[in-house]
Amino acid sequence: MCQETDILIDRLGKLIQPQDEWSDVFDVVRYAKLCALDTTCKTIMGISAHDQDESEYLEYVTAIERITSILHQRFLTPWLRPEFLFNLSSLGREHARCIKITHAFSDKGHDTISSCFSWTLYLLGQNPEIQELCVQEIEVLLGEKLKEGEEITLRDLNSLEYMERCIKETLRLFPVIPIIGRDLKTPLKIKEHTLIPGTTVVVATYILHRDPKIFPNPEQFDPDRFCESNMKDRNPYAYTPFSVGSRNCIGE
Ligand code: HEM
Repeated sequence: MCQETDILIDRLGKLIQPQDEWSDVFDVVRYAKLCALDTTCKTIMGISAHDQDESEYLEYVTAIERITSILHQRFLTPWLRPEFLFNLSSLGREHARCIKITHAFSDKGHDTISSCFSWTLYLLGQNPEIQELCVQEIEVLLGEKLKEGEEITLRDLNSLEYMERCIKETLRLFPVIPIIGRDLKTPLKIKEHTLIPGTTVVVATYILHRDPKIFPNPEQFDPDRFCESNMKDRNPYAYTPFSVGSRNCIGE
């Protein structure tokens, strides 16, 4: 993972060197995706790292981007909802082609990680004083190791409590999966209403995480919401970026 992060830092470093007035504006998502893909391949599947540049990788990342965009288009286009019409359409055929490209990989893990990673970089960029606290934490806890060029371990990463709070706060503001759907198998009573089996229920995590009664001033990026003292009285179902229950995330 250190190797993959070094490659990312190197690539981002080149991007932010001042060249023109727009040099400080760039889309971090693609770089975060390639890094997350490399890291996921190595840590989960044991496939050794590529250099985040290979065309095969870019083809894969582009296929994932197209699948996401096609799903959005299908969602907004009622006549593309039935499977047989979708499969006959040009979008459906492109979707099938992209699925073939992604077939060899498990995309569940890396795409969620890269989204979380991109938003964390974005929010730290938007909040330099919080970014500075992250840097200070890394310097205090890992500064010696970094100076000596020692490898950073999982235990080291787990010691970065402030950084963890920043990631949790990122997932509050931008939950990677903003809406979760479930089909009811049994009746569900909510106050005076009863929903019948077969009803599709949607939990909008994005909205749930912005309840001002639980997260005052909800649009503000404030990692201290995840301090022990601020969390102890919070309902555990008020913050669910990994979903909850029997189908929750195995990567949590
Ligand atoms: C920031 C990182 C991640 C977030 C926010 C996240 C979030 C979620 C959410 C919300 C669900 C439930 C989706 C639903 O019920 O419709 C889910 C399911 C799942 N996640 Fe993640 N995930 C992350 C990383 C990962 C990783 C790294 C892996 C793989 C190692 C992974 C594997 C899965 C799998 C297999 C499921 C389906 C579980 C099931 O249906 O029983 N996730 N994830």
